[in-house]
Amino acid sequence: MSIRRLDEETIGQIAAGEVVERPASVVKELVENALDAGARRVVVEIEEGGKRSLRVTDDGTGMSGADALLALERHTTSKLRTIHDLEAIATLGFRGEALPSIAAVAVLEILTRTREALTGTRVLARPGQLPEATAAACAPGTQVKVTELFSNLPARAKFLKTPGSEASQVAEVVTRLAIAHPHVSFRLHHGAKRLVQTAGGGALEQTLAEVWGPERAGGLIPVAGGQGGVKVHGVVGTARQSTPSRHYQLFFVGRRWIKSPSLRFALDEAFQGVLPAGQFAPAVILVEPAAGSADVNVHPAKWEVRFRDERLVRAAVTGAVRAALGLPRTRAPVQEWTPPGAVRDLSAGSLALVWEPVRPAATGEWEVLGQVFGSYILAVEGSRLFIIDQHAAAERACWRRLATTA
Ligand SMILES: Nc1ncnc2c1ncn2[C@@H]1O[C@H](COP(=O)(O)OP(=O)(O)OP(=O)(O)O)[C@@H](O)[C@H]1O
Ligand SMILES: [Mg+2]
Repeated sequence: MSIRRLDEETIGQIAAGEVVERPASVVKELVENALDAGARRVVVEIEEGGKRSLRVTDDGTGMSGADALLALERHTTSKLRTIHDLEAIATLGFRGEALPSIAAVAVLEILTRTREALTGTRVLARPGQLPEATAAACAPGTQVKVTELFSNLPARAKFLKTPGSEASQVAEVVTRLAIAHPHVSFRLHHGAKRLVQTAGGGALEQTLAEVWGPERAGGLIPVAGGQGGVKVHGVVGTARQSTPSRHYQLFFVGRRWIKSPSLRFALDEAFQGVLPAGQFAPAVILVEPAAGSADVNVHPAKWEVRFRDERLVRAAVTGAVRAALGLPRTRAPVQEWTPPGAVRDLSAGSLALVWEPVRPAATGEWEVLGQVFGSYILAVEGSRLFIIDQHAAAERACWRRLATTA
């Protein structure tokens, strides 16, 4: 087999495959550009889940005509000069690839004007054709419209889901960006329907109430802490607000939403003994690592971050969340505990356990029945049966002791 050099169009389409998966990924890139341009208002409008068209309008810096044309070429960026700049990157973008990638698989129209310019520019780009620029009247800022997504890649287009499903993925993306940027006002419309709206007042709690609803966002506990140069802030819920899914647990590093099994683990660690297994409290955790200690250039879509000292970041998150919950920083080791009377191990029989939040109103005489699975104490008080997490109980007792002697 002989080796051939790929043509520019094919190279562009392959590169696009890494960042442009569906309408939601296009919206993510365009909104990130708007935020990097200092926008305070971002409006996203999609039709048929973004499959027919999507448009992102911002009131950011805008671009000159020459820059708007240059932005469509591969590896052109205003955000990075050398790889060393990545150590302290403050922008969401840096690869100079998003706009050319979108233009490789869709029709892209940019309407943009800087604040100083008297007129704006319209740039129209079609896959495989040179972009054209013309003068156009428009407000300061930038509007990017994307139509005919994947019309030149029918195999990709087939993987897109129903408009409703694509729209909800767009809503997820806009919601995460809004949560990470409470000082920016966001709006997302799907046809005539408004899916997301935030006021951009600056407070995380307010933005959460706007995107999650006041019920879920009410009573969240602020988190503020950190260690070893890692800053952690955000909010966490309590056992009362827990659900059986991790849907409301979000992690951000440098205001960038990331998928992080490691930070999930840190959060689970913090909640151990507070929540039954399989229950998850809502949490928004924003991590600011020390400059140069995190690498965001791991995945083209940038939803992965590598930390130089992962253990330190995990400890910082666990510590900050536990402090917010009023728990000691680390879990105390379980003390050997022998219930009074004969201990019976009840785990041999098949027990179907249903979890209920602890009701601390129990008073009076307890009769300990025994222990199951080596860590839960079964006790009865009158006609009520209690299942006590021995570890959590030991911790609480220890915390009380410390709190009363402090
Ligand atoms: N909404 C916008 N407002 C102002 N300038 C913009 C906007 N969108 C893009 N640009 C300019 O176009 C350039 C190219 O954008 P593009 O998204 O392709 O790359 P990037 O943001 O630099 O990096 P990445 O590929 O990681 O997103 C940006 O660096 C920026 O200068
Ligand atoms: Mg970008």
